[in-house]
Amino acid sequence: MTERSLVLIKPDGVQRLLVGRVIARFEDRGLKLVGLKLVRVTRELAEEHYAVHRERSFFAGLVAFITSSPLVALAVEGPDAIAVVRSMVGATRPSESAPGTIRGDLALEVAQNLIHASDGPETAAAELALWFPEGLLAYPREVDRWVLAPGG
Ligand code: RTP
Ligand code: MG
Repeated sequence: MTERSLVLIKPDGVQRLLVGRVIARFEDRGLKLVGLKLVRVTRELAEEHYAVHRERSFFAGLVAFITSSPLVALAVEGPDAIAVVRSMVGATRPSESAPGTIRGDLALEVAQNLIHASDGPETAAAELALWFPEGLLAYPREVDRWVLAPGG
């Protein structure tokens, strides 16, 4: 089923000049960009995005980090995009992220694990509405005629 997922290239990715390489991985996989922007994150947005972790010991540090410097938000679309993106991102702890995943290739610390991706259909819908309140762009893509199965 065609899905959309929210991806954040966190401040460490922007600071380390990895934005282009991370986006290229999603483009290379065949996913379609339907939203893309550089964002200076407010405390309110950060706390809303990570509300599920509000009681965790790392919450304050996580909010401080995510608001410390701009990040890149992107929305990607494709068949089973949510699971595909999560598998490309790799495990939360870089010590457990397989080589070949984004974290497994490019990150070393859990607090600076480079990237966020929606973890399910409900969170994807909520996160896309939160980060792209202006909506996403729908447009035809020539390669979709042969990358995607009919009706996919
Ligand atoms: P994300 O939400 O950022 O995509 O990451 P995730 O699903 O793989 O991991 P999650 O459990 O949702 O944790 C959110 C983010 O919190 C930071 N974290 N720090 N210090 C710690 O023990 C710890 N645990 C989690 C990470 O930056 C993680 O991505
Ligand atoms: Mg998460």
